[in-house]
Amino acid sequence: MTTQLASRRYLVDIDSISAQQLFTDCLVIGTGIAGLRAAIETAEHRNVIIVCKGKVKDSNTFKAQGGIASVLDEADTFESHIADTLKTGCGICDEDVVDLVVRQGPELIEQLLGWDTEFDLAGSRVATTLEGGHSHPRVAHAHGDETGRIIAEALIRKVRQNSNIRILEDFYSIDLLTNHENKCMGVIGWDNQRGPQVIWAAKTILATGGVGRLYRETTNPEGATADGIAMAYRAGAVMQDLEFVQFHPTTLYIAGATRALITETLRGEGAVLLNNKGRQFMKDYHEAAELAPRDVVSRAILDQMRKSESTHVHLDVRHFDKAYFAKRFPWINELLGSFDIDIGKDLVPVRPSAHYMIGGVKTDNSARTSIDNLYACGEIASTGLHGANRLGSNSLLEGLVFGKIAGQAVSKSTKATAAHLKHPLIKYQIAPSDRTRLDADDVRNSLRALMWRNVGITRSDQPLSEAQEIIRFWQRYVMDKVFDSPEGWECQNMLTASLLITQSAQKRQESRGVHFRRDFPDTDNEHFKKHIELTR
Ligand code: FUM
Repeated sequence: MTTQLASRRYLVDIDSISAQQLFTDCLVIGTGIAGLRAAIETAEHRNVIIVCKGKVKDSNTFKAQGGIASVLDEADTFESHIADTLKTGCGICDEDVVDLVVRQGPELIEQLLGWDTEFDLAGSRVATTLEGGHSHPRVAHAHGDETGRIIAEALIRKVRQNSNIRILEDFYSIDLLTNHENKCMGVIGWDNQRGPQVIWAAKTILATGGVGRLYRETTNPEGATADGIAMAYRAGAVMQDLEFVQFHPTTLYIAGATRALITETLRGEGAVLLNNKGRQFMKDYHEAAELAPRDVVSRAILDQMRKSESTHVHLDVRHFDKAYFAKRFPWINELLGSFDIDIGKDLVPVRPSAHYMIGGVKTDNSARTSIDNLYACGEIASTGLHGANRLGSNSLLEGLVFGKIAGQAVSKSTKATAAHLKHPLIKYQIAPSDRTRLDADDVRNSLRALMWRNVGITRSDQPLSEAQEIIRFWQRYVMDKVFDSPEGWECQNMLTASLLITQSAQKRQESRGVHFRRDFPDTDNEHFKKHIELTR
């Protein structure tokens, strides 16, 4: 299923001769687990520039709590992890990719240990715990609930030690550059110190992460504004499965607090959900109760909130030993303490929020996109691993495995060096807009509220049509402008990606995994056991 959509090719004027220029064998965009791992692998044979729009630590990876899923103890098997991933993915996982990712997990985690990643141990082996959908405790964690930070710091150390890798922070990638054959040639970006800059690259790896900031409620950091999806779409890449946005059931809901993730591993270790009458309700919805798939838990919470006209439900952790809780969940312990929540006495107010983009830029088993010289890995990529629903903690695993695969593919490809770059002169000019007044912050906030309301945990045709109409209206006066700062480009990217997600959600006239249609509540294998693709 393919749709043609038209829009402007580049967001800014480009004059590739007068812009400042850098040259590299490989450009990696993004510094989460996938980008860092890809840079390390590529640098074995090539020189690499890795860029991020903020600081190197500003990634979803850094905030990951629960862990990284892998077969790490003798009682567990690859077959079991594969079966759990396929079952959660609701019929549309790519089985080869699932096999490949699951089987590479233990070796790559072993490698992380060798790079001084301080996973929590149980005796001499890596400790593992449960999350929903896993039939065996296989979620490895580090420093309790700081798994992402500990892994990211180990990879960052490794990257900083490598003389083949140059890191550029505060570099906003505006658009992928393509030649007349639509081969990727690198990127036009904005360097906070130096202004507009072209990076010519023989190969480019997109690892820009997620889209959570398209929604009013999200666990994602400020940078998760879907830049990679919008950029790749403008360049002509095939997008896949954008309707599958995963909502995490439990984020802290306190007015004024950021919507911090309250890790699912808490439920894996016995925390229960209570409605506002203090009744445990998950058994009414699924036999696995608190460990049902995330989409089921999110919708159950929503249902309870509606029935009781409440803004949240509660997570009960009062039965945990306080000392154990502080050691096992130090980050959450401190967060709750800062809001005077005494875990021995008080309930934790929670509700769902946008967490993870399952779809993205379509890639093959070598992390190649549909555009020559352009690779993608991590959350931005749609590899087929997750199908219609992601098994908890399979995302860090996917980033690690496909980061390595992307790096290998680039470093092995012949002529993937800056010396072979035959880049074109690119001159692109946009007619000046006569609509001058715009409060981009207001557009962003309105968009996030609209996406939450109309393209959220449950969907149906009329609100999806309305969302498209409103986004198109906003696009009329936002997309014709030439901005000169990341806030404006982000706003344009958010509108582009939101429209694509909304269109995909409207096309999938069934319910499957994280995509729930109130007007089509059943799964329709006859018509929709397949992927939905969008391309420019
Ligand atoms: O609940 C969590 O810690 C989230 C894990 C994940 O998204 O994989």
